[in-house]
Parts: sequence; C-alpha cells; structure tokens
Amino acid sequence: MGKLLSVLFCILISNLALSSAQSCNTYAFRNNAVYSTCVSLPVLNSHLHWTYNTNGTVDLAFRHTEATNSQWVAWALNLGGAGMQGAQALVAVTSSNGSIQAYTSAVPTYQTNLQPSPLSFEVPRVTAESVGGDVVIYATIVLPSGGTAFNQVWQVGPVTNGVPSIHGTSGDNLRSVGRVDFITGQTTAGGAIGGSRQRRRNTHGVLNAVSWGVLMPMGVMVARYLKVFKVANPAWFYLHAACQSSAYIVGVAGWATGLKLGGDSTGITYDSHRNIGIVLFSLGTLQVFALLLRPKPDNKYRIYWNVYHHGLGYAVITLSIINVYKGLDILDPEKKWKHAYTGILIGLGVVAVLLEALTWFIVLKRKKEEQRTHAGANGYGQSA
Ligand SMILES: *[C@@H]1O[C@H](CO)[C@@H](O)[C@H](O)[C@H]1NC(C)=O
Ligand SMILES: *[C@@H]1O[C@H](CO)[C@@H](O)[C@H](O)[C@H]1NC(C)=O
Repeated sequence: MGKLLSVLFCILISNLALSSAQSCNTYAFRNNAVYSTCVSLPVLNSHLHWTYNTNGTVDLAFRHTEATNSQWVAWALNLGGAGMQGAQALVAVTSSNGSIQAYTSAVPTYQTNLQPSPLSFEVPRVTAESVGGDVVIYATIVLPSGGTAFNQVWQVGPVTNGVPSIHGTSGDNLRSVGRVDFITGQTTAGGAIGGSRQRRRNTHGVLNAVSWGVLMPMGVMVARYLKVFKVANPAWFYLHAACQSSAYIVGVAGWATGLKLGGDSTGITYDSHRNIGIVLFSLGTLQVFALLLRPKPDNKYRIYWNVYHHGLGYAVITLSIINVYKGLDILDPEKKWKHAYTGILIGLGVVAVLLEALTWFIVLKRKKEEQRTHAGANGYGQSA
C-alpha cells in the first residue's frame, strides 16, 4: 500500500514537473518567435525564454503572467553584484489604459523610478507586448565581456501616475534573484541579500522576537499570576522586574541592530515596522523609568500609577507582537519562523488562560473566606 502510494506520488510529481516544463516550452509567441531554451523562474509568475547565438548575443523573451494595467515588470542582469543595486534592466511599463512601453534602465541605487537609461552592455532591440494576460519583453542583448553566466533579478511593481514606483519588499519580491547560464540553460535561485546582511537580519529578528515578543509577555504573566499567591510576595515583583529589565536590555540591543539595518537599506524602507519599533523603544524606556517613580503602596496616587503602568504594559505587549509579525514577514518569506512564533504565542496563551482561571478561583475563594470571617466577627449573617 505504502509502495503503491509512493509510486502514485512520484507519477503525480513527474507529471506536474513535465506539464510546467511544457507550459514553458510550448508557449506560442504571437510573433512566432521560437527560443531554444526556457526556464520557469521560481517566483513572481515569470518565465525566461532564450536562444544563445555563438556570436555572443542572446535573443530572449521575459514573460510575466497574470499581468495587470498600471504595472511594471523588469528583468535584469547584475554584473557586479546580486539583487537590485547595479542591475542592468529591461523594463516594460503598462499604463492604466493598457498601452505598453519597453526600454532599458540601469539601476545605480535603491532610489530609482526606473528612468530610461543605457545599460553597461549593448541591447540592440527591446520591445514589449501585452497578450492574453501576459506581458512579454522581447530583447536581444550582447553578452558582456565574453561571459555566459550571470546573476539575474526580475521584479514586478506598481505604476503610480505613469511612473514606476517601489515594488513589494517582502516574500517573493525579495526572492526573485538567482543565476542564469545562457549556454547550459541552468538557473539557480539565490538569496536576495548578501550573507552577512542576512545574518544581521536574523540576529535582529531573534533578539527582538525573544525579548519584546516572548520575554516581555512572560514578565507580564509573572506579575499578573504570581501576585495572587501570598507566598510569592514579594518574589513576584523581583521576578517581574528581572524579567522585564533583561528583556529590555536584549530588546534595546535588538532595536539598535534594527536601526542599523534600516540605515543601511536605502530605498527599501520598512516604514511601519521601523516606526512601531521606535514607539516601542520609547514606551519600554518609559516603563523602566516609571518603576523608579513608583509611589509607595499606601500612597493615594499609587492606584493611578498602577493604571498607567498596566495600560502602558499591555500596549507595549500588543505592539511588540504586531511588530514581531511585521518583522517576520520581512525576514522570512517561507513563514517557518512565523509559524514557530505563533506556536509559542499559542502556548503562552493557553498557560495564561489556565492561570487566569486559577487566579479567579483563588481570588473568589479568598473573598468568600474573608466575607465569612468578616460576618462572623460582626455577628451578622449567622443564619447564612
Ligand atoms: C549574431 O548571430 C545571430 C544569429 O545567427 C544573428 O541574427 C545576429 O545578427 C548576429 N549578431 C551580430 C552582431 O553579428
Ligand atoms: C495611454 O497612456 C499613455 C501614457 O499614459 C499615453 O502615452 C498614450 O497615448 C495613451 N494611449 C491611448 C490609446 O490613450
């Protein structure tokens, strides 16, 4: 039975692979162009068709399916690096009325509206058409400096007021890079971001997810649920303070790595993630200082301080969790970490619900006992 299933599974997979290869290879171009090689790129519904000529030129067609109006698509070689910066791009801009324009654009920095400009290699021909929901860029390029394998990058983004504007900055939009070998026809996917930068992003993510996203909610739970046990007084307070201040210290380190990352990534700005981060740092710092200004328990202002401290605390936790999710969206296109973090939150949530129930049980029981002793002392409610 197991064997049969795995055979069926293999047949299914090979059929899927075949049919996707066929949809790439058998695609009929409207101008009857025929290309010797075709690869379906791993993300953004894109295919690259080409013919390599022995005189060092390549005739190619970059095809993006599920295209819409007011959209730009681009395919580029990057000779000096990987990714967007330095990309030598072929661009097709579909305006809101459906008309389409193709041109070349060298992308020196992240700040670009993909203005037309010459590339570092010759492009004798570039045109584009929109057909059956696809946008196709046709071009002939003269492969630079005798090379035949290059880093490639492709992208899709919106057109605002006739001008290409910034593409999505997460998920597939960051995975649309790789390598293409025009002779062997091999393509490999590659990370959009250099190794050390990716490591710094991961460090930033781990530091912040652990501190703001896990330790701080745990610190709140310590305060809320340990307080009710008389034996845990005043231990809960020190535990809470220790939890939150270590979370704060790790969190500030994570925050600083985030500011550095943000400063380095000109153009790709994660505005809401960054702004929430700055608000969080401010509120977190306020919480630490609030501790120093805490009135004594019998002070008549203590109740206001408590409301303030609790209110701000829950706001910080809520914003932290939102921002961890925003960060994970930026960091991890495959959503593995997001699922792991959701798992941790669900775990904490279950524990919190159980402890909440236990707390109410203890508080109500205690109240009842107090009422009984109170009633007994006053001589009332004897009949009850
Ligand atoms: C290169 O070869 C192709 C195909 O044979 C041909 O169409 C093209 O004109 C040639 N280009 C140059 C610059 O010789
Ligand atoms: C469509 O829009 C483009 C740019 O916005 C303009 O150049 C072109 O003339 C328009 N075409 C039609 C048919 O309206």
